[in-house]
Amino acid sequence: MGDIDRSLGTAGRVNVSEKAMINARADVNQLLPLKYEWAWEKYLAGCNNHWMPTEVSMQADIACWRSSDPATGLTDAERMMVKRNLGFFATAESLVANNIVLAVYRQLTNPECRQYLLRQAFEEAVHTHTFQYICTSLNLEPGELFNMYREVPSITDKDAWALQYTNSLEDPGFRTGTQESDQAFLRDLIAFYVIFEGMWFYTGFAQILSLGRRNKMVGIAEQYQYILRDESIHLNFGIDVINQIKIENPHLWTPEFQAEVRDMLAKACELEISYGRDTMPTGMLGLTAEQCAQYMHFITNRRCAQIGLAPLFDDTDNPFPWMSEAMDLKKEKNFFETRVIEYQTGSQLQW
Ligand SMILES: [Fe+2]
Ligand SMILES: [Fe+2]
Repeated sequence: MGDIDRSLGTAGRVNVSEKAMINARADVNQLLPLKYEWAWEKYLAGCNNHWMPTEVSMQADIACWRSSDPATGLTDAERMMVKRNLGFFATAESLVANNIVLAVYRQLTNPECRQYLLRQAFEEAVHTHTFQYICTSLNLEPGELFNMYREVPSITDKDAWALQYTNSLEDPGFRTGTQESDQAFLRDLIAFYVIFEGMWFYTGFAQILSLGRRNKMVGIAEQYQYILRDESIHLNFGIDVINQIKIENPHLWTPEFQAEVRDMLAKACELEISYGRDTMPTGMLGLTAEQCAQYMHFITNRRCAQIGLAPLFDDTDNPFPWMSEAMDLKKEKNFFETRVIEYQTGSQLQW
């Protein structure tokens, strides 16, 4: 044991005006007084949405997966889609969790935001648990599933692109505080919250929920519905964080930086469209790669608007209006007509 550090005694009481998203001087151990009510509200909403994958029965999915009759089971195209879909998510949830814990948490200097990050990190663990549970229930080859991000090019391309934004931040020597490092942190937040969780999960959600609407793989579809509900809050938290950092540090949001972010979103959209084609080369009943491409244009424009950028594509309709219904469990509790657990929903999802 070394000497007791008495510097705590000289830190003084926290003044709300000293709280800040990044580079704050205020003590990070004092939650109250709150400065960012929206962060605390999202923490409460996340807690109200608690669920565990093991509460969802996989019996119907096991029968569907084992059936060799395409009427009661899956077609070859659907089977490949499900595998590559699970293959992306199986490791994506861990990539997101690692980014939160190893990069974002250290740089975000606000206790109410950190409180939400702790909740989000747990939710990402629940999501990874979901893919472990699905893999085990369907008796899938774990080596195949958990290596797709290294072996399937359209998945590798997405993950390698995102990892470049977290690598520098995971360096123990990385600190915000300069124009360059603060912008690097903003880039990481945009890559993971707006793009990874806010764009790249949505083709996958649409694919599985579309199957569920046709009464196939209904257990997984129900789990995806809960994941989607969690992810909607993750995305909205990320957007609030990014916009708050912009308000507090307007010098970071230069025209050059905005142009760079628009390029990031354009590239991300392209990668996601390739992933849609690669997972569904021939399409499925009610869902084609072309519709997924249109959906991604719609989503990309929406994300641009949410962080204050001009749209990248011509105005386009949402080809999957049922996705917004699937997101609102209060409205559609029996969306898949499976056993639905009456979780409390404490959040107004803004999509
Ligand atoms: Fe997740
Ligand atoms: Fe997430």
